[in-house]
Amino acid sequence: MSSDQFDVVVIGGGPGGYITAIRAAQLGLKVALVERYKALGGTCLNVGCIPSKSLLQSSHLYHEAKTNLASHGITVSDLQIDLAQMLARKDKIVSGLNKGIDGLLKKNKVTRYHGFGRIPEAGTVIVKSPDLAEITIKARSIVIATGSDVLELDGVPLDEKRIVSSTGALKFESVPNHLAVIGAGVIGLELGSVWARLGAKVTVFEFMDRVLAPFDAEVSSFMRRMMEKQGMTFRLSTRVTRAVNTGDGVTMTVEPVEGGPSEDITADAVLVAVGRRACTDWLGIEELGIETTPRGFILVDEEFQTNIPGVYAIGDVIGGVMLAHKAEEEGVAVAEILAGQHGHVNYEAIPSVVYTAPEVASVGNTEDQLKAAGVRYRSGRFSFNANSRARTIDASDGFVKILADAETDQILGAHIVGPAAGDLIAEIVMAIEFGASSEDIARICHAHPGLAEAVKEAALAVDGRAIHM
Ligand code: FAD
Ligand code: NAI
Repeated sequence: MSSDQFDVVVIGGGPGGYITAIRAAQLGLKVALVERYKALGGTCLNVGCIPSKSLLQSSHLYHEAKTNLASHGITVSDLQIDLAQMLARKDKIVSGLNKGIDGLLKKNKVTRYHGFGRIPEAGTVIVKSPDLAEITIKARSIVIATGSDVLELDGVPLDEKRIVSSTGALKFESVPNHLAVIGAGVIGLELGSVWARLGAKVTVFEFMDRVLAPFDAEVSSFMRRMMEKQGMTFRLSTRVTRAVNTGDGVTMTVEPVEGGPSEDITADAVLVAVGRRACTDWLGIEELGIETTPRGFILVDEEFQTNIPGVYAIGDVIGGVMLAHKAEEEGVAVAEILAGQHGHVNYEAIPSVVYTAPEVASVGNTEDQLKAAGVRYRSGRFSFNANSRARTIDASDGFVKILADAETDQILGAHIVGPAAGDLIAEIVMAIEFGASSEDIARICHAHPGLAEAVKEAALAVDGRAIHM
């Protein structure tokens, strides 16, 4: 095989793309990866999961020091925020992980190309490098893993200084006095929390009548109360129609979704967090005739193949839940399929986590979904208030709720609000993957005093026999 001829060329170096490349290389395929930026890791590592979690941790520590340490008998005087240091810490974490991915690709002998990838025809990728030189590479299979980009809102032009997307909200140079957030989804609540904890007044404008709309209704209403307790204000059933950067602030126009008079609101900065769109801008998919949904996500079959034989797609660019671990699972599956194995993703067992305080974690069906499908279920609920470990760490807000089939007891969904919810959910994801029942979890020994005891108690509660409630 000549040096520019590969078994697989992956376009996009995010969690979907680089994991596809590594898994394909592990399976003995000759692999190239094309990424437009010098840094690998995609949205997740560079402007998404990792920088946001870094700021969530820093702002959480500040907030704890300000509000909670005194009750432990720890007094802190002259508490200050050094925002430049907070941002520098975040950037250092990102660049360290960037280097880690570079090393992993080298270790697995994946050939890297720096530039924009375009697919003129099946089997060929043209890479336009930053100096505009073009290189043509050949592949038996091409995997599109070009991810997603910020979705812009009509009438609200982003300038990434005062009217920002999540990317701008990860690098404000000072804490805004009043931050308006458009969208009470995952980004709105996570990044809204960061700046609220650091002292901003945060007002969230949301089109729907609840926060975190796709989550279980009980989770939505609980989280609204939690966020309000932390100082955030919600204007629900409200649409933002316009925002103008006035130089020293932003003036927004909002109106009730049901109709009624509009209102002008002023803020120091606005965060637009109304979802993300498929990133297919430079690929040439229209010319190639690759089919997409009306919203621009690439359509694939159950083996992740597009309507063009030999061209595959995975991750955010194919839509569904836009999560890094979903992109990674699809990357592993497509690599295994390309190596002649039977790659598969179980979409029923993909957890969603919101890294607020308290954390939110969810897997499987919500109560509303089960009701709409006419499924008879039993619900077991246990409050962290009755969990001794949660009490010792001052994190007793929240609950674990497990939904199980009324006849077979098979677990159909679980919803956790509380400390380490994003880690606790893993046990229930595994249970769902194994087709386990709530009784299976209830019979497992969980260490004491542990947060996971709340999961066991919720499983016992499905049968009405929680011990500590
Ligand atoms: P991406 O990560 O978007 O990677 C696509 C890559 O393709 C990019 O590097 C891009 O530069 C490159 N590319 C695009 N077009 C071309 C081209 N033509 N040629 C070459 N390269 C190209 N998910 C979670 O699971 N947990 C979280 O905590 C979380 N937090 C988030 C926080 C924020 C603020 C945001 C915005 C997102 C967050 N997400 C989180 C979502 C997560 O980032 C995405 O689901 C994930 O990055 C998708 O991976 P991907 O590989 O499909 O795409
Ligand atoms: P989202 O889909 O979670 O929320 C967007 C919200 O904006 C919705 O509630 C919607 O009703 C509202 N909205 C839309 N138009 C509006 C308007 N004109 N006025 C007022 N409200 C309006 O999208 P978000 O928060 O932008 O996140 C994008 C993606 O990134 C999500 O798919 C999410 O999965 C991913 N992400 C994941 C994280 C995690 O896993 N912890 C963290 C952050 C992002």
